[in-house]
Amino acid sequence: MSLSGPIGVFDSGYGGLTILKDIVHRLPDYDYLYLGDNARSPYGPRSFDTVYQYTLQCVKWFFEKGCPLVILACNTASAKALRTIQQNDLPNIAPSNRVLGVIRPTAEIIGKYSKTGNVGVLATKGTVLSKSYVLEIHKFFPEIHVFQEACPMWVPLIENNEQNSVGADFFIKKNTEELLTQEKNIDTVLLGCTHYPLIKDKISSFLPAGVKVISQGNIVADSLSDYLCNHPEIETRCTKGSSQSFYTTDSTEDFDNHASHFYGAPVQSKHLDIVKL
Ligand code: DGL
Repeated sequence: MSLSGPIGVFDSGYGGLTILKDIVHRLPDYDYLYLGDNARSPYGPRSFDTVYQYTLQCVKWFFEKGCPLVILACNTASAKALRTIQQNDLPNIAPSNRVLGVIRPTAEIIGKYSKTGNVGVLATKGTVLSKSYVLEIHKFFPEIHVFQEACPMWVPLIENNEQNSVGADFFIKKNTEELLTQEKNIDTVLLGCTHYPLIKDKISSFLPAGVKVISQGNIVADSLSDYLCNHPEIETRCTKGSSQSFYTTDSTEDFDNHASHFYGAPVQSKHLDIVKL
């Protein structure tokens, strides 16, 4: 049965809210359902299989809620779970539904920002180890050199509201320097984790003047807009009531207190028990 419902937006925790914010700004008429798997975040250091299992459970929940389309607004889940879900699971569990990620739309465009041909990617350990950005960017821009740096401390610092602390400065300086040690002529740095837009200015301040720092929200929003235009069979099943609802697998109080930093507006969440997933 092909249900109609909101567009699902998923992240391991809060980061996907930076993507949802830009999507809602670009496509305000649709209904959106957000799920942050805060009880099991961060996903960045977890194994492929664990990220895949957690993400699949959450995707099934979105489908039960009637979402015809789910966006994995999490680079780690996009890197480690998306392909298997699209190729192995979707044909069995919901062949008429779609699941999209954030890596491909970003890879499609990132090469256009660089003049030196050297692009840096800052991301979680999981995304870096998957090499998804290197592989995807090379499909669209074979001449671009991609340099990656894993920043394992950044998500915990941001999630604990420590992004303006001396400790955060230490780790942001350390990881940006390590990236530039790989190649000093990097002129474009992609924030390949949906948490990082919160520290975009700080990251820029540790990079040489003139280096472009690119976050994904608007890129993903433009790509979703194109996708909906090109896929009327999905678009007509996305309901249009201009609503946004939020779920978290952890404390709603914590989520509501913290989420507005990422979403830029107050959020009132409901709880989803992971035992029920
Ligand atoms: N926001 C997620 C991403 O884009 C990662 C956060 C986490 O490690 O759970 O990769």
